[in-house]
Amino acid sequence: MLEVRELTKSFSGFTAVNQASLTVAEGDIHAVIGPNGAGKSTLFNLITGHLIPDSGEVTLKGERLTGLAPHAVVRRGLGRSFQRISVFLRMTVWENVQIALVAKDAREFCFWKPLQNEKEKIAQLLETVRLEEEAKVVAGELSYGKQKQLELALALAGEPRVLLLDEPTAGMSPRETEESILLITKIVKERGVTLLFTEHDMNMVFGIANRISVLHHGAVIASGTPDEVRGNHAVQEVYLGRPTH
Ligand SMILES: Nc1ncnc2c1ncn2[C@@H]1O[C@H](COP(=O)(O)OP(=O)(O)O)[C@@H](O)[C@H]1O
Ligand SMILES: [Mg+2]
Repeated sequence: MLEVRELTKSFSGFTAVNQASLTVAEGDIHAVIGPNGAGKSTLFNLITGHLIPDSGEVTLKGERLTGLAPHAVVRRGLGRSFQRISVFLRMTVWENVQIALVAKDAREFCFWKPLQNEKEKIAQLLETVRLEEEAKVVAGELSYGKQKQLELALALAGEPRVLLLDEPTAGMSPRETEESILLITKIVKERGVTLLFTEHDMNMVFGIANRISVLHHGAVIASGTPDEVRGNHAVQEVYLGRPTH
């Protein structure tokens, strides 16, 4: 589904992502882990077109994404959320989703025509992320966890085939983290969406991912099933800081 080939990105001589390659199969729940500063967000920004790599390429179902602008990448079927909140804080939950749907339908370019089944689509997305009750609430007044749920609805509005979530649970309590991860997993399974995500809670990562890639100093040092990664010597030494013998 998604193929990342030897991406490299430097910032004024500092290599943040170094020859990173990943293969994400359709239906995979693929986690990218690594300590702070390992290059996870940079890697995601390279995949989504928010940053241009120095070298390497990304393809989605064989189609090259590298070189396309972020909105064009979204239209090819790749949705994302950011590590920091990116919703319209002064608009209601309902309006936020409405705008995301308009943005998607701008493809067909008929702003003057009401969107087909718009209300049902909004209601359905809000139900999916469990925000039905908050439809009329201004987004800035939602709890942090609920703003993240709204962000997820906005990403889903684009009907992505692959969803990239950069630390979807950053700043959440352990309980919110667990609920949120379970909700995300349920949604991607129900919708048949392929998921590539970063997450700091290792219990959650090893509990839900079927593939894990480990980044360290911008390079992928291991990639495989949770068991393979758990048993990988380099990962234990470098990432978990627990040398084994
Ligand atoms: N725009 C930038 N300019 C300079 N350095 C950057 C920029 N973005 C990220 N970096 C650096 O690249 C490294 C990787 O950052 P990042 O991708 O955010 O890591 P992670 O998401 O794994 O914590 C860090 O050392 C960070 O300081
Ligand atoms: Mg990050």
